[in-house]
Amino acid sequence: MAKVTTKLLTPKEIGIAVELLQAGECVAFPTETVYGLGANAFDEAAVKKIFIAKGRPADNPLIIHCFSKNQLSELVTDYHSGAEALMNKFWPGPLSLVLPKSDKVPHIVTGGLSTVAVRIPDHPLALALLENCGLPIAAPSANTSGKPSPTRAEHVYADLVNKIPAILDGGVTGWGVESTVLDCTCWPFRLLRPGGVTVEELRKVAPVIVDPGVYRSDDNEQPRSPGMKYQHYSPQATVILVVGNNIPREINKLVEEKVPHYPKIGVLATSESKHLYPKLTVLEMGSKFNLREIAANIYHLLREVDQIGLDLVFVEGFSDNEMGMAIMNRLRKAAGYQVVDS
Ligand code: TXA
Ligand code: MG
Repeated sequence: MAKVTTKLLTPKEIGIAVELLQAGECVAFPTETVYGLGANAFDEAAVKKIFIAKGRPADNPLIIHCFSKNQLSELVTDYHSGAEALMNKFWPGPLSLVLPKSDKVPHIVTGGLSTVAVRIPDHPLALALLENCGLPIAAPSANTSGKPSPTRAEHVYADLVNKIPAILDGGVTGWGVESTVLDCTCWPFRLLRPGGVTVEELRKVAPVIVDPGVYRSDDNEQPRSPGMKYQHYSPQATVILVVGNNIPREINKLVEEKVPHYPKIGVLATSESKHLYPKLTVLEMGSKFNLREIAANIYHLLREVDQIGLDLVFVEGFSDNEMGMAIMNRLRKAAGYQVVDS
């Protein structure tokens, strides 16, 4: 890979990011969910640079970002009126819709699939970037494949320094977990990845079933969303997710067993229970009554786990309702599906 020097751009320097995208380079930029690593969706060579910088498997397709619904005619063919209703309700916002792809979208973007995921992000810098470059932008999360998604420009920098020419710094992202991915090529629609828009909200507009891959590893089957089969969001430390009604008691019991094997043990705990772990390094996720706050902190904390050098980390689990579904989906993956029921 040719070595490049990564520039950190302020919002005022957005023009440089626009020029780079138009010149066939890839650029990291903030969205309302996480940072994305974007390139011109119609330019195969540009999109290839994304896969190389991230070390992303070629069969894992990218989401195309637009600033206006008018751009869809170039990207997708006929779709269900239910998908139209969802666009009207949730765009701009954290919802990616999987639709039949047009011939104009190169196969490299879709990992060879005949469908393509599209969304309009709800972030002023992202929208300005998309509008000014006038191109649909293919963008996965701007992390090295397998690492937690970046919610700050520093996270992108840590992963991709000298692998990409620029990072547009828009501060901390809002949602902190990626967009909801919904397959609208089947009926009822199928939730492939829970995210900022909850299944409860979607169901007010259209019928939705939840793909089993949201809850468990899809190792032995052909997943509907290629991204489901890759281990994600993993810190170096061993992660054990604990669910149920007696989480702090269970964690403190497990700690006794684990102490001889792991020198540095920590816990990701809610504000309500953080004082219950006198022997552990505690990282506070936020209040259990504010799941949006927890979602916004989770990726940053998974990175902190490695920064601090923990060898083992316990994580308090949640129920799979509303934003809890997106949080638990990420935590189960981070834990490599090691879940203990208290
Ligand atoms: O919030 C987000 O969605 C962020 C920001 C940057 O927009 N992007 C993001 O992209 O999370 P990425 O590439 O990290 O995740 C995209 C997910 C993957 O799990 C991929 O497999 C799935 O969407 N996906 C993309 N196109 C698909 C398709 N045609 N069919 C099924 N799944 C698809
Ligand atoms: Mg990703």
